[in-house]
Amino acid sequence: MARNKNNLIETENSMTLMIGIPREIAAGEKRVATVPDVVEKLIKLGFKVAVESGAGDAANFSDDTYRAAGAEIIGGAAKLWSASDIVFKVCVPTTEEVGMMHEGGTLIGFIWPAQNPELMQQLAAKKATVLAIDALPRMLSRAQKMDALTSQAGVAGYRAVIEAANVFGRFFNGQITAAGKVPPAKVFIAGAGVAGLAAIGTAAGLGAIVRANDTRAEVADQVKSLGGEFVKVEYEEEGGGGGGYAKVMSEGFQQAQREMYAKQAKEVDIIITTALIPGKPAPKLITAEMAQSMKPGSVIVDMAAERGGNCELTEPGQAVVKHGVTIVGYTDLNSRLAKQSSTLYATNLFRLTEELCKTKDGIINVNMEDDAIRGLTVIKEGNITWPAPAPKLPAAPAKPAVAKPAAPAAKGHGKGGAPASGTKTAIIFGVAAAVFWFIGASAPAAFLGHFTVFVLACFVGYMVVWNVTPALHTPLMSVTNAISSIIAIGALVQIAPPLMGGGGPRPDDWIRWLAVAGIALTAVNMFGGFAVTQRMLAMFRK
Ligand code: NAI
Repeated sequence: MARNKNNLIETENSMTLMIGIPREIAAGEKRVATVPDVVEKLIKLGFKVAVESGAGDAANFSDDTYRAAGAEIIGGAAKLWSASDIVFKVCVPTTEEVGMMHEGGTLIGFIWPAQNPELMQQLAAKKATVLAIDALPRMLSRAQKMDALTSQAGVAGYRAVIEAANVFGRFFNGQITAAGKVPPAKVFIAGAGVAGLAAIGTAAGLGAIVRANDTRAEVADQVKSLGGEFVKVEYEEEGGGGGGYAKVMSEGFQQAQREMYAKQAKEVDIIITTALIPGKPAPKLITAEMAQSMKPGSVIVDMAAERGGNCELTEPGQAVVKHGVTIVGYTDLNSRLAKQSSTLYATNLFRLTEELCKTKDGIINVNMEDDAIRGLTVIKEGNITWPAPAPKLPAAPAKPAVAKPAAPAAKGHGKGGAPASGTKTAIIFGVAAAVFWFIGASAPAAFLGHFTVFVLACFVGYMVVWNVTPALHTPLMSVTNAISSIIAIGALVQIAPPLMGGGGPRPDDWIRWLAVAGIALTAVNMFGGFAVTQRMLAMFRK
């Protein structure tokens, strides 16, 4: 394969980059960084795709399916790595893998730069450009399509429930059969992040009674919306540590939380723990005594096993039975659902590739002006660019937004936010007053009535819409929708009997029935609108 001076592969007509997919070599890893469906899409973006022979076998994607999708199958890792301009990987690369990479190449995958400083140096020495999918600024809403941490945690949360169901000796759902009554299983989820929420949805879907707890009170509504019950710790303390992550809680909170968890452990059949604080060992939430107090045959799935575990009795990578309770500490939940995990991961990387190749010509542009790309790029052409500065965020749904509306838009303010000069305001008011005087003096009286209503409507609309922070526009729309049900008055007038025997024509029956239907439909709009608004606003309250 011929390479030009920029180390890019030359094809007949154009310079097009080769994306390489090596076989993952970490013990027990069954995922693969792309799947045949995504290969086709990458080719449509103008890239060539090479897959190491056998790379997808463990995830049930054969070489033939990749070949049919248009990929070239290359035998042997060394050949694959050296042929690839861009390498897509799942696991952190080993020293040997970095050794096979060609100088100036691009690597995209999990890197965890804080934990792997030596790897960073090796990659920098290769003059590589490295995009660490784990460094994606997750708080940017447009980055969500590339968020592999979320897609993988979602799969793992689902699988954790399936693992629990596998070793639990009963149904999840309650049943009344001729053979007797079966109570539903009770599941407690500790930590309602991505994995926890996926576990709540899955367990509730299987029919279990699901309870969950998290130190971040704002997730309570999400827990409820997935069919779970949020169990609060009776101790007032803010649990958010910034960026949607948790912080280490005070000793007082931890004591209150331990008491609540001890109570839950005695009541429930299954505990799934997902609690994690970035950069810290996983908090120990389930003590040996709590595990011992569970009913025989109960199950604990500790998703945080790899990070030290949330349960004192967890053995990472193992499922063990202690005091009659099965404690599952698997650290490969994603590999246990390799086809699904690989498909979602491949889609995340494809979305990232689309961002890198907006021109759809098989060439990538690592645009450091783009917040999402900047956050991901930990090494650019051999220069370590990690950690990235915090991205500029759009106006957050700030806590005080409901109680205290944001300041009015900067209209009427001069450069740098300084108040506009008094003269300017006086001129505007003067001109407006002159226009109103002219209209008042020359327009007919009937027009003036409508005009006054119009001006007031503009003013109220301005105050209502522009003074509300953008994050609250959706609840605002639903409440205005509910208010629009004022049209019910029209329908009420149609079915009302003539007032005070005042006579007047009564509406025909069919008009009255239409009015009844109108009132019924408007009532749904009115009560539903207010109910939905309440729910939405509750999501903004702590
Ligand atoms: P996350 O950071 O989004 O969620 C962790 C949740 O735990 C947060 O909602 C946080 O507020 C909560 N939390 C922290 N401290 C707590 C405490 N003391 N009490 C109650 N809640 C607390 O993480 P994500 O993405 O949901 O992943 C959850 C866990 O699953 C992580 O430990 C992750 O490493 C693990 N994981 C394990 C896999 C496996 O194969 N075993 C695969 C994927 C993820």
